[in-house]
Amino acid sequence: MGFKMAIENKGGTSDSAKCPFSIEDVDLFAPGAQKYWYESYEILHKEAPVHRIPGEGTSPDTDGFILSKYEDIAFVVKDILRFPPPSMKSSDLEKSGISGFNADDKNDSVVDDNSSNKMVTRQDPSLMNALQVSIMSLRPNEELWKAHKRQLTDPWVGTGAQKNEEMIIKAANSLIDKWIDNKNVEFISEFAMPLPQIVMANVIGFPIDDIPLLKKWGDAMVMPFVYGQGHRNLLTKEQSNEQQALLAEFGEYVINQLDEKKKNPKDDMLSFLTEVIYEPYDRKLTDTEIIGVAFAMIIGGLETTQYAISEQAQILCKNPSLFKELKEDRSKIRPFVEETLRVRSPTQGLSTRMTTQDEEFQGIKVPAGSILHLRYGAANVDEETFDCPHQINLERKALTRHLTFSQGHRTCPGNGISRLEQTITWNLLLDRIKSIEFSPDASFEHQPGIMLGALELKINFEKES
Ligand code: HEM
Repeated sequence: MGFKMAIENKGGTSDSAKCPFSIEDVDLFAPGAQKYWYESYEILHKEAPVHRIPGEGTSPDTDGFILSKYEDIAFVVKDILRFPPPSMKSSDLEKSGISGFNADDKNDSVVDDNSSNKMVTRQDPSLMNALQVSIMSLRPNEELWKAHKRQLTDPWVGTGAQKNEEMIIKAANSLIDKWIDNKNVEFISEFAMPLPQIVMANVIGFPIDDIPLLKKWGDAMVMPFVYGQGHRNLLTKEQSNEQQALLAEFGEYVINQLDEKKKNPKDDMLSFLTEVIYEPYDRKLTDTEIIGVAFAMIIGGLETTQYAISEQAQILCKNPSLFKELKEDRSKIRPFVEETLRVRSPTQGLSTRMTTQDEEFQGIKVPAGSILHLRYGAANVDEETFDCPHQINLERKALTRHLTFSQGHRTCPGNGISRLEQTITWNLLLDRIKSIEFSPDASFEHQPGIMLGALELKINFEKES
């Protein structure tokens, strides 16, 4: 009999958010809203599966829409030309073959946010530009997107991620060695955070001693997702300037690393990127294109996996019988990883897309020029798609159907290595630990922003003899 458990939304912040009772109370972006996201999703599904946010579209006279239904989000993410990310400029869209797009292109401009009366900018332009150069030059269309993934990232973090198994086991064990003889651990700073940092430094080929720098730059990259305002993750002018300065440092760092790799290539992703002949163009990558790929690996590869592992630890603290079941039958770790990714998606509201033509979802008209906020976290608990959606059911059919890594050709290219890190983590911890529980002084503060992540996780455990 496989494990089934209903997830309770334990955790929260000291902010003012209140448990919502009706659609008027739902604000997914208010300070502390994370605590009630799942209650909000239930209301959204029932009352407003396509929820309008007035004036939050691609121009002041257009709107934003929160999509929360599985079928809508799965449809949108699979068609990047019809629903491109708002960071793509109209000129880029034309290059991609989209014509007739008239939305006001204000990506790099400063806009006045009336609600807060502060000057805010779109997600940091320098980062978006670096990524955009790499995206638009290397994969301006679906076919090249697939080629990019197959040739450049899959061998390292996608289908070929398995080759990192030994390295990940070593990294995870060396972190566990540091605290296994104590009876307690602050699990995030002592494991969930450093593991993906060490893994990504090794994969990309950055010196391990530089991890504190990578952490600093990784934090700068995800700043809009953590401190950004509203569904468009807007930073204040000051935040944006700070972010740009840090990212410029990162750019310089990668250039230096590239010089080194060109002189002394090693078996790592950066060396590979300096040498590879990109098949669709039959040429080597430019340094800017390589920086774009490295940016994407750091922005995607650190906090997401950290959040996944720390949510899994919380679920196991709350469910000793599930811990025991996994300990006794390791074949259940894979379903456990998928189900926890589904019910506690780190990427609750990561992605936005825009409409290039008039659309209709759930009978609601959504005009061209709107911004769609894709709520993966809500889609994953849509009861029309998942039976008893809040239950962790290790025997659920089509376990990987969730939208946590998105779907279609833009599916997270790092899903292979992230899944591997999570599977290895639980295999090793279940070998080395007899039981775990929350420490009596554990707090359950959520990180702000649109990702689901705990800030701290104090755990007491019993070491396996
Ligand atoms: C639990 C862990 C992770 C989750 C939940 C996750 C989720 C996602 C999602 C939903 C997207 C799609 C964004 C969109 O289309 O708007 C994405 C994109 C991306 N992810 Fe992940 N990710 C995870 C781990 C990783 C790792 C470990 C890496 C790197 C090794 C990575 C690299 C990327 C990159 C580069 C993109 C951009 C893809 C593109 O636009 O071509 N991710 N991720």
